[in-house]
Amino acid sequence: MAKYKSIFTRAVHVGERGPKPDFKPVSTPIYNSVGYLYEDLKDLDAVFGNERPGYVYARYGSPTNSALEEVLADLEEGEAALTFGSGMAAVYAALMAAGVKTGASLLSAFDVYGATYAICARLLPDWGVKTKFVDVTDLGEVQRVLAELKPAAIILETISNPLMKVADIPAITKLAHRAGAKVIVDNTFATPVLYQPLKHGVDFCVHSTTKYIGGHGDVLGGAIVSSQANRKILHEIIKMTGGNLGPAEAWLTLRGIKTLPLRMRQHCTNAMEVAKRLQGHPQISKVNYPGLADHPQHELAMKLFPEGLFGGMISFEIKNAGKKEVFRFMESLDLVLPATTLGDVYSLTLYPAMSSHRALTPEERKKGGISDGLVRLSVGIEEVGEIIGDLEQALAKIE
Ligand SMILES: Cc1ncc(COP(=O)(O)O)c(C=O)c1O
Repeated sequence: MAKYKSIFTRAVHVGERGPKPDFKPVSTPIYNSVGYLYEDLKDLDAVFGNERPGYVYARYGSPTNSALEEVLADLEEGEAALTFGSGMAAVYAALMAAGVKTGASLLSAFDVYGATYAICARLLPDWGVKTKFVDVTDLGEVQRVLAELKPAAIILETISNPLMKVADIPAITKLAHRAGAKVIVDNTFATPVLYQPLKHGVDFCVHSTTKYIGGHGDVLGGAIVSSQANRKILHEIIKMTGGNLGPAEAWLTLRGIKTLPLRMRQHCTNAMEVAKRLQGHPQISKVNYPGLADHPQHELAMKLFPEGLFGGMISFEIKNAGKKEVFRFMESLDLVLPATTLGDVYSLTLYPAMSSHRALTPEERKKGGISDGLVRLSVGIEEVGEIIGDLEQALAKIE
């Protein structure tokens, strides 16, 4: 006998909120519920008051996201993590949590992802934040600017986008902390398989999980791994500003992360072979890959990434090429896809001047070494001979 008589009420409630199961699902389900119930309202009150863990409302947290946060914190060897709806939401929240506000200053690496650069160069100055950019491979310059600017924070990438410069994170973190600045490292390109910034004192380790962590080009997301204390600050921010990762997206990312170490191995070994082959190609004037002996920070990369894995990202300059020649090359590719992302199982190519670094003025791009002939390649997990073959046939199409 149904508890309610009306078909309207029964259609809404029957089948919901069954008894507590005496089994555990092997993999985490997608908890799509926005709200959560407790038998005693005191428990709901305690969760709201942060006196006990639990869930009350999806913007405050939800179980699928917690599972992803737990594994992210574990792989990065941090205390805690918080997931966001995109990498940029995570970058932005990290800046806020690090104390970047009106009247404060911010130091940024010059070659960071274009949208991060745009936040630092355009959005924050409009709000009265003084920002400066440095080449983080010049430690003397970093030290000098830290002393002069006294920034609230410094933001940089482990392996930079798109020039693959490697930052001496342990040294920069020491310098920054001595100057009273918090350190935000975007570890998207390296992933915890190559490097774990928190082990070297970094305060906020940011990821665009859209990339290697999700890994399949089907889910946008971001995350910050940090201490519990910093996670509390971030949690207060996300509770007010939102920008959460949805549970379905958290679930896809959680599924992706399971094969992250396997995929990274293949990305890295493939990238090394592709980089070597491109280096010897008569139409290529420069290859940027930290695994190559002539990379300016190769020694540092060997120290920071002791497993001998240098990432899946390469950039290279096509000899005497501008937009027309680069477009011809990219349009001639068959296997390698000209898509605006990276870190997927697929090999992907991108023209930074048109996409990731479009927000920069031509002068800013030139200053940063992003030439009109520069192509970025995210080496996928396909068979490496077939990737190389495709690149070579496309290069042959440029007159
Ligand atoms: C290094 C890096 N950080 C952050 C982002 C932004 O991530 P999302 O697109 O997930 O917002 C990107 C995007 O390409 C990136 O390459």
